[in-house]
Amino acid sequence: MQSLHLTNRRILLNARPQGAPQASDFRLERSPVPAPEPGQVLLRTLLLSLDPYMRGRMGSAASYAPPIELGAVMVGSTISRVAASAHPDFHEGDLVCGASGWQDYALSDGQGLRTLPHGAEHPSHWLGVRGLTGFTAYAGLLNIGRPQRGETLVVGAASGPVGSVVGQLALSMGCTVVGVAGSEDKCQYVRDELKFTQCLNHHHPELPAALAAACPMGIDVYFENVGGATLNAVLPLLNPGARIPLCGLAAQYNADGLTSATAQGPDRLPQLMATLLRRRVHLQGFIAFDDFGAQFPTFFAAMGDWLASGEMQVREDTVVGLENAPEAFIGLLQGRNFGKLLIEVAGD
Ligand SMILES: NC(=O)c1ccc[n+]([C@@H]2O[C@H](COP(=O)([O-])OP(=O)(O)OC[C@H]3O[C@@H](n4cnc5c(N)ncnc54)[C@H](OP(=O)(O)O)[C@@H]3O)[C@@H](O)[C@H]2O)c1
Repeated sequence: MQSLHLTNRRILLNARPQGAPQASDFRLERSPVPAPEPGQVLLRTLLLSLDPYMRGRMGSAASYAPPIELGAVMVGSTISRVAASAHPDFHEGDLVCGASGWQDYALSDGQGLRTLPHGAEHPSHWLGVRGLTGFTAYAGLLNIGRPQRGETLVVGAASGPVGSVVGQLALSMGCTVVGVAGSEDKCQYVRDELKFTQCLNHHHPELPAALAAACPMGIDVYFENVGGATLNAVLPLLNPGARIPLCGLAAQYNADGLTSATAQGPDRLPQLMATLLRRRVHLQGFIAFDDFGAQFPTFFAAMGDWLASGEMQVREDTVVGLENAPEAFIGLLQGRNFGKLLIEVAGD
């Protein structure tokens, strides 16, 4: 079979990061492309999604998903072309959404694979706005944030794939929406293209005062993507009965593996607990597919309509070449991406 003569590049976890990931935490290996056994398909990766959760999987700590083993392929969602099939449900040439990880080729027994419709426009959307990130925004906002017309919502990582959808949905529900992002360019995009009411730079030392000015009626929903300085600025402004969908804590992911003395700033836990108590705040962590997966088909159809009508704006940041995935991922945790981060592993 022709594919047996091809080489599979695989990016493996070489070492568990201490703090921010380094290039040396990854290792690129080459191996022969395997042939599918009966009941298997061979997938050629076209697009790989890079997401902040991968930082957690690189560490050894127990979480909602097991750590990646040292020497194993880095995990990740992918859009792939079926290169060869010995599975009755998949045919050579099909485009599928799955989880091949950081490699050119992967075998699959078909579990968890979804076939894209023939001629599907924007396959990349299945990894972002119509996939994990869009659904996370939708599920956390509707189930936990429960925004009401006239309320004020704040969201961090506002130009990113989760934050941008949260804000656009909340705007459509009649909220005042204040984004927080990591550069002037990102803030300008969030204000001008996404039409958020305001967007503030979290690197600015006056963030607490600027946020107070942007939220004169206080904050009713804080969609938590980042923690850190943004959370500190939000806490004093929370209204009684505020809701916090606790989605992610991107500002502290790189603290994993550091000694507690290096990782910790001032202890703000007493302030947080007192705020939750006095303002009767509802804070709930969630893992989108685990907790709300039954809502995915409804979301998928609705998001398709919002995209088709132009109501939902999408920004993607596509880096070409599997070999560039480690550097792109390191940048993601430092805010160097501008939009949903994707790796173009191969052309169509
Ligand atoms: N619970 C779930 O089921 C679930 C599912 C998917 C994603 N998530 C979480 O949702 C959050 C957003 O994900 P995403 O895919 O949309 O990510 P993203 O916006 O593409 O990337 C993460 C962003 O975090 C921001 N960031 C990094 N360091 C920061 C810091 N020190 N302070 C403030 N912001 C910082 C950066 O944006 P700026 O340059 O704007 O700071 C960076 O671009 C992440 O925390 C992710 O883990 C949760």
